Amino acid sequence: MAAINMDYTNSRLVIETTKIEPGSVSWRSPSNIALIKYWGKHGRQLPQNPSFSFTLDQAFSETTLEYTTKTGADQGIALEFLFEGKENDAFREKVKKYLESITDIFPFLRQFNLKIRSSNSFPHSAGIASSASGMSALALCLCSLEYELFGTLEDDLAFRKKASYVARLGSGSACRSIYAKAAIWGDNPEVEAASDLYAIPYWEEIDPVFHSFHDDILIVNKSEKKVSSRAGHGLMEGNVYAEDRYRQARQRFRQLIGALKKGDLETFGRITEGEALTLHAMMMASPTPYLLLHPNTINIIQRLQDYRATSGQPIYFTLDAGPNPHILYPDSIAREAQQFIRGELSEFCVDWIEDQVGEGPLQLEEN
Ligand code: DP6
Repeated sequence: MAAINMDYTNSRLVIETTKIEPGSVSWRSPSNIALIKYWGKHGRQLPQNPSFSFTLDQAFSETTLEYTTKTGADQGIALEFLFEGKENDAFREKVKKYLESITDIFPFLRQFNLKIRSSNSFPHSAGIASSASGMSALALCLCSLEYELFGTLEDDLAFRKKASYVARLGSGSACRSIYAKAAIWGDNPEVEAASDLYAIPYWEEIDPVFHSFHDDILIVNKSEKKVSSRAGHGLMEGNVYAEDRYRQARQRFRQLIGALKKGDLETFGRITEGEALTLHAMMMASPTPYLLLHPNTINIIQRLQDYRATSGQPIYFTLDAGPNPHILYPDSIAREAQQFIRGELSEFCVDWIEDQVGEGPLQLEEN
């Protein structure tokens, strides 16, 4: 087999006939929650530090990519984009730009009229990051289309590696959604196979207590974020704490991997909560400071920490780049934890999603 370029550019992936039947490919792909955060990047979507995430189950995107061969000589990307059944110009422009940026990887994209239909299992305005699920679903569709047209990527590992690479170019965190249960993205001395270019699966190595972990997403505020993650990553460049933060993230990554292998919930919780607070501390300390927390984010964190102190239960929180806490706990305490969440935390939220570690993306039958 010919060696694949490290950057997957491949000028041979062009179709030689227009007699290809119209078709479609569909994937469902989940969101993920990072426990060691990717926050700060360089080059072409390369992370400043390794990250680790759980793949979610209930929070997912479903994307269908339809294609028909072009008849004219138009060399641009021809794209229609429907989000939740409706045309969405803002998303279309974003996705079109993304597809244009990867025509060196998939040159055949210029040869088709493309129509993408995408929807989420959670409300778009719920304040849940949809770029990880949306971009990973799209990347999987692109790799499936390559497979259908050229018979390449037959091997599941090679398929996922490329999907993860391509997803990364759309949104960094999306590269981790390609795998069941848990994933690592970013070079590090602890896990030799890990790479800055794509994520790898990482669950066989970790204690089974984490395989069925719960993550209840408490939605305290549904409004769109004032500062996007993309802009937030950019602000790390002028942050005086940036280098210390990257050093800390690498150290915490190493400690977390140790705790995951041992099933050490206490260390897991301490690092996870530290990461959530440091992420928001970085936003507050950036050259243009900003705050994404809501008063009820703090109320939830305080109630949770009090409950943990009195009950001794291993229940922890994390946050992504928004105000909505994710409550993490092992399946063995699900009943008590859910009782506590309903009884004491629900007054602070407008909605919540009971989620857990999931089985990763699923290819959907054509409809
Ligand atoms: C806080 O992956 O959304 O959720 O690469 O610019 O699309 P882009 O950013 P994105 O950043 C995610 C940030 C985070 C942490 C994480 O998921 O690791």
